[in-house]
Amino acid sequence: MNPARRVSLTRAVLLLAVVALGVWLLCAELAVVGGGEGRVSTDPAIRATVAGRRTHAQAAVRTPAAWRTREWRRAVDRHAAVLRRHLADGMLAASSHAVCLGGVHEAMALRELGVVGAVAGDGHRLPFPDSSVDFVLAGRALDNSKRQADLASEAARVMKPDGHLVVLTSGASDAYSLRSLQALLPSLRLLRSRVINGADGSTLQELVFRKHVDISTTSGSSSNGNNSAGNCTGRDHKLQIIGLAEPLIQEEPVKPWITLKRNIKNIRYLPALADIGFKRRYVYVDVGARSYGSSIGSWFRKQYPKQNHTFEVYAVEADPAFHADYASRKGVTLLPYAAWVRNETLTFEINDGPGKKGDSNARKPSGRGMGRIRHAAGAMKGVSSGEVRRIPAFDLAEWLKRTASEQDYVVMKMDVEGTEFDLIPRMIDSGAICLVDELFLECHYNRWQRCCPGERSPKYQNTYGECLELFTSLRNSGVLVHQWW
Ligand SMILES: *[C@@H]1O[C@H](CO)[C@@H](O)[C@H](O)[C@H]1NC(C)=O
Ligand SMILES: *[C@@H]1O[C@H](CO)[C@@H](O)[C@H](O)[C@H]1NC(C)=O
Ligand SMILES: *[C@@H]1O[C@H](CO)[C@@H](O)[C@H](O)[C@H]1NC(C)=O
Ligand SMILES: *[C@@H]1O[C@H](CO)[C@@H](O)[C@H](O)[C@H]1NC(C)=O
Repeated sequence: MNPARRVSLTRAVLLLAVVALGVWLLCAELAVVGGGEGRVSTDPAIRATVAGRRTHAQAAVRTPAAWRTREWRRAVDRHAAVLRRHLADGMLAASSHAVCLGGVHEAMALRELGVVGAVAGDGHRLPFPDSSVDFVLAGRALDNSKRQADLASEAARVMKPDGHLVVLTSGASDAYSLRSLQALLPSLRLLRSRVINGADGSTLQELVFRKHVDISTTSGSSSNGNNSAGNCTGRDHKLQIIGLAEPLIQEEPVKPWITLKRNIKNIRYLPALADIGFKRRYVYVDVGARSYGSSIGSWFRKQYPKQNHTFEVYAVEADPAFHADYASRKGVTLLPYAAWVRNETLTFEINDGPGKKGDSNARKPSGRGMGRIRHAAGAMKGVSSGEVRRIPAFDLAEWLKRTASEQDYVVMKMDVEGTEFDLIPRMIDSGAICLVDELFLECHYNRWQRCCPGERSPKYQNTYGECLELFTSLRNSGVLVHQWW
């Protein structure tokens, strides 16, 4: 090797050493904080330090190779380009206490823009007191989290009143999804949104929120799902969705056994009309569940479109004959009660005697009479020799309000043999109906019978018109209800 070459090689080695030292210093300086649990960060720098503040020694040892690459530089520049705007808007200042949930690229970009105290934070428990942070950049952290709701409330917690949150998301592109995200941030108000291009050429929403000054509005009061006027919150965006749903069948079907079954093919499910992300929990309530296979197993688990979310299932079924079926079902909670408008024990009679014509209590060979509370109550007045059953019943509306919030996604199927004419008004009056995102309601009326042309079913007194009224009033109040069979 000639001397000239050796000199240039030495120089190159020296230069490399200087660059390495520079990167080391930069990394060491950039505090990465967090107490993340439950979520594995994709950023190796964060993963290495989830336990807390990194030391210089750790930084030196764990500085990921990725930080020295051109991609890393590009990522920082890309974030800087997005963030520069917020600096210009005055949301951020050099002295701002800023936290980047997305990761170190964003924090580095902020520091390069002059926000010297910017740090990267990770996890669902940030080591900052309440109301202490001026600016939270969530980046794509919500999209990447399995616990979006917790992350959102943690971000809101650490923010100062009047502080700002910037979210980048591939969701929130329809009104329903945006509304769901807003429900996860009840103490924040959406200031503005715009569409930007993501790194991979995809489209992202950039949403800017500001925290309310009035702390009292942060206490989760909006989680009941309705305002004081009794209207469901977000009724307008729900009405938009209802406009896309299959129309209600206006004319009473002459052959209901055909028409109603055929209508199932026309059903437009909510997850086919909107993005159902940004919900805290996913809940399915089967009211009048009967056996596991009758609708939970055969329909909900197999056919309902879930956008990959895992649902908690509640089976409301009073008939003890079906209870054993649920003992071994994973993820299903059995509520062994009749759905009713208050907590009480209902006593009614099952008449096994030779079927008197028109006797609404006559037990069908297959259909067990359990759900027919309203008929049973009437039968109590008479004297009869049938078998008497005592059925524990519970207040469905009260239970739902205790069990679910507006931040949850709730699907309900209701098949209660006529009791819907009591339950639905009670759910509307109590506001519980606002918690139901999608309702599949079987409405029982004196339908035309297949067996006997020109004869109506004697089992139910309500008319098709009354059913239609029930469906129409539900849709008008913002509940996506489907006619079920
Ligand atoms: C919802 O409506 C019910 C009944 O009208 C009412 O009792 C309740 O206070 C309302 N919720 C809110 C948050 O106003
Ligand atoms: C409630 O809904 C009705 C329409 O059904 C509307 O006229 C009324 O203004 C709403 N009230 C509030 C407080 O939103
Ligand atoms: C559900 O997950 C699968 C596999 O992870 C994915 O291919 C599919 O696109 C996802 N579907 C939805 C609706 O997100
Ligand atoms: C009503 O019954 C349900 C189910 O047993 C129970 O969880 C709830 O606490 C009861 N509510 C009242 C007000 O007693």
